[in-house]
Amino acid sequence: MNIRKATPGDARAIHEMHMNSIRTNCRDHYSSREIAAWSGRKFDEAHRIRTIEEDLVLVLVENDRILGFTHFSKDGELKALYLDESAIGQGFGRQLLREVEKEANRHDLPRIFLSSTLNAIGFYKHCGFAPTGPSHTVEINCEEVGCVPMEKIMEIKI
Ligand SMILES: CC(C)(COP(=O)(O)OP(=O)(O)OC[C@H]1O[C@@H](n2cnc3c(N)ncnc32)[C@H](O)[C@@H]1OP(=O)(O)O)[C@@H](O)C(=O)NCCC(=O)NCCS
Repeated sequence: MNIRKATPGDARAIHEMHMNSIRTNCRDHYSSREIAAWSGRKFDEAHRIRTIEEDLVLVLVENDRILGFTHFSKDGELKALYLDESAIGQGFGRQLLREVEKEANRHDLPRIFLSSTLNAIGFYKHCGFAPTGPSHTVEINCEEVGCVPMEKIMEIKI
């Protein structure tokens, strides 16, 4: 298993793994309507490629198969961190997050912020993040999907 920067050629595989991860890993915390809307988003190639070219998108790969990815934007927002079901619970989420934290430090970002899925709140707390407000919903494909705003303040470098 290795972690590398995504290339435009990874766009479709990232999308499929992302949607599949929602279906398999988030279903215990969301209604079937929410999961269907959220994981039913169509592949937007231009958008995926733009994020790969403009932001930090890392993939977790085994034998050329993408088993995880993370998307971190320049303003410090962790936009996505998703693993394939087969890669859950083996430390890969934390490894990807460490790479994001290194990137935040390289750019002297004061904090990393994100909207956590309801199922991942414990993971982020475990990794030093704290909620910054109550849970709220975002509209995806005409369905309201719950999430919790969280952040991690980066250590000040002396
Ligand atoms: C959230 C996710 C990325 C975590 O990745 P992971 O590889 O399963 O987590 P790790 O194995 O790296 O766990 C790191 C630590 O967090 C803990 N942890 C993981 N998930 C946890 C949870 N839901 N609640 C509490 N602790 C959790 C682990 O026990 C581990 O602790 P340890 O180091 O003391 O043993 C992964 O479960 C996932 O892809 N979930 C579905 C997609 C999703 O909801 N992503 C979040 C989008 S905001």
